[in-house]
Amino acid sequence: MAGSAALLAVAGIVFLTAPDPSADPLLGSVLGFAADVDENTGEKTYPVAGGFAYPRIKAGTFGGIFTLEQKASIFTEGDPPLLVPDGKFYIAKVPPNASVKPVPDEDDRVNAANIMAIYQVCPHLGCLVPYIASERRFICPCHGSTYERDTQYVRGPAPRNLDQFRLTVVNDTIVVNTGQRVLGQPHS
Ligand code: FES
Repeated sequence: MAGSAALLAVAGIVFLTAPDPSADPLLGSVLGFAADVDENTGEKTYPVAGGFAYPRIKAGTFGGIFTLEQKASIFTEGDPPLLVPDGKFYIAKVPPNASVKPVPDEDDRVNAANIMAIYQVCPHLGCLVPYIASERRFICPCHGSTYERDTQYVRGPAPRNLDQFRLTVVNDTIVVNTGQRVLGQPHS
């Protein structure tokens, strides 16, 4: 009995304190975070922390929906990406010929503004990745993984491009769903 109570307490602490179990495949599997795999494209979508308690995640809180004050039309392809710290993502407009495209929204539409929401967490070991304006690239301070402004992997130990969140643009308003993360393409 005491052992069960202790186990429950530990499980509760893990759940309440883990910032993003889906960033850790092992912890994600223990807690039951499974990838949602698109049958046609093979694309994997992972729920984020508390995904199974999704209705309780407030808008503007990580794991929920973010509606940005900044309109889509103010972004240009030359701007440094805009960091939204509470959502752990950057907003960047990319050129039509970018090597990585914005992921489609839940209805499988890619926004015509070519805007992407880039997850700030490095797919190597989870450090927050800053954008280095002088290099025009994201460079992870932990082990040096480097990514183009459009998330494309350049070098370092990271296994793939930076991840993206699904995003819609409606009447110039950007809405990012941080409950819908799409993994970046692995490199060979
Ligand atoms: S955590 Fe980013 S390169 Fe290791």
